[in-house]
Amino acid sequence: MSSSHLESVARALVAEGKGILAADETVPTLTKRFQTLGIQSTEQSRRTYREMLFTCPDAAKFISGAIMYDETIRQKSSDGRPLAEALTAQGIIPGIKVDTGAKPLAGFPNETVTEGLDGLRERLRDYHAMGARFAKWRAVIHVTDALPTFACVSANAHALARYASLCQEQEVVPIVEPEVLMDGPHTIDRCEEVTGMVLHSVFHALFAQRVALEGMLLKPNMVIAGKECARSSSEEEVAAATLRCLRRHVLPTVPGIVFLSGGQNACLASAHLNAINRLPGPKPWKISFSYGRALQDPALEAWHGRDQDLPAGQQALYRRASLNGAASVGKYTAEMEAASADDPPHRRDWRDD
Ligand code: 13P
Repeated sequence: MSSSHLESVARALVAEGKGILAADETVPTLTKRFQTLGIQSTEQSRRTYREMLFTCPDAAKFISGAIMYDETIRQKSSDGRPLAEALTAQGIIPGIKVDTGAKPLAGFPNETVTEGLDGLRERLRDYHAMGARFAKWRAVIHVTDALPTFACVSANAHALARYASLCQEQEVVPIVEPEVLMDGPHTIDRCEEVTGMVLHSVFHALFAQRVALEGMLLKPNMVIAGKECARSSSEEEVAAATLRCLRRHVLPTVPGIVFLSGGQNACLASAHLNAINRLPGPKPWKISFSYGRALQDPALEAWHGRDQDLPAGQQALYRRASLNGAASVGKYTAEMEAASADDPPHRRDWRDD
């Protein structure tokens, strides 16, 4: 595949008014989320849940691609088609998480490096044969006054770049996700400093590994104060700091930036995306979403493991997807949100993986 084909897939993933559904939780993570709602986690219940998301009527108006986990891409929908095919039939591009998780970084307490490079070429080949046209790899950066270390940032940047170049070799668009966590009491200024440093290091590594920037997407955190920070930031502050940081560190050749939600509640994740898109001045990339929790939580809550509530789950996903679709073009308003339970108390401590 030429880099122009990779570029056309990357651009399709950030088509006007659309973003990505991240539904690639590992079995233990999805099991934890199910358990908080009293839903049994079995291969069958996970399959039913993912089928509900992937066959949501008209979701393709706002969802360009969906990221699956290894178990999911091997599962079939109730009509016997592989779930990847069910997505394609809807006009949604199938994607796959290919890292094997953030593991303790030897010699660096409280820091992690994301693993999964061993055998990645072969796994990408298999996933491509199963229909995947894009992939995801998430690096995790912890923030304190002293962290991250240079060693942690450079080890994660190197792994992200090696992953991205293998993806492109195998005709798969890499989503490069360096996540600076919201955990902790750090200020928005500290988040901006660390996010800038991490992005700089990631782009340096991507250049060194000859990654074609036009054939990838960046999935960063927003620049935002830590969850335990005494001073919370306004939507305008988050938007201004995020765009400033991206302008300084993300080359304009990248077709799109798709944010993770990172533990923000669903409404705030939409409001922030909207505020960023409404800022004046140059934005050389499409700016959209690749949300997990902020898209799925209301749908999971509405479904609650009950067959009769599958349509309610799909309606909830459709609603959140349409609101984020509006935010991706700066047309979201707070009035579009009815009083809702989008941030039920049980999920405030949920983490991603
Ligand atoms: P959240 O939006 O829940 O942070 O998840 C997105 C994701 O895919 C993180 O890897």
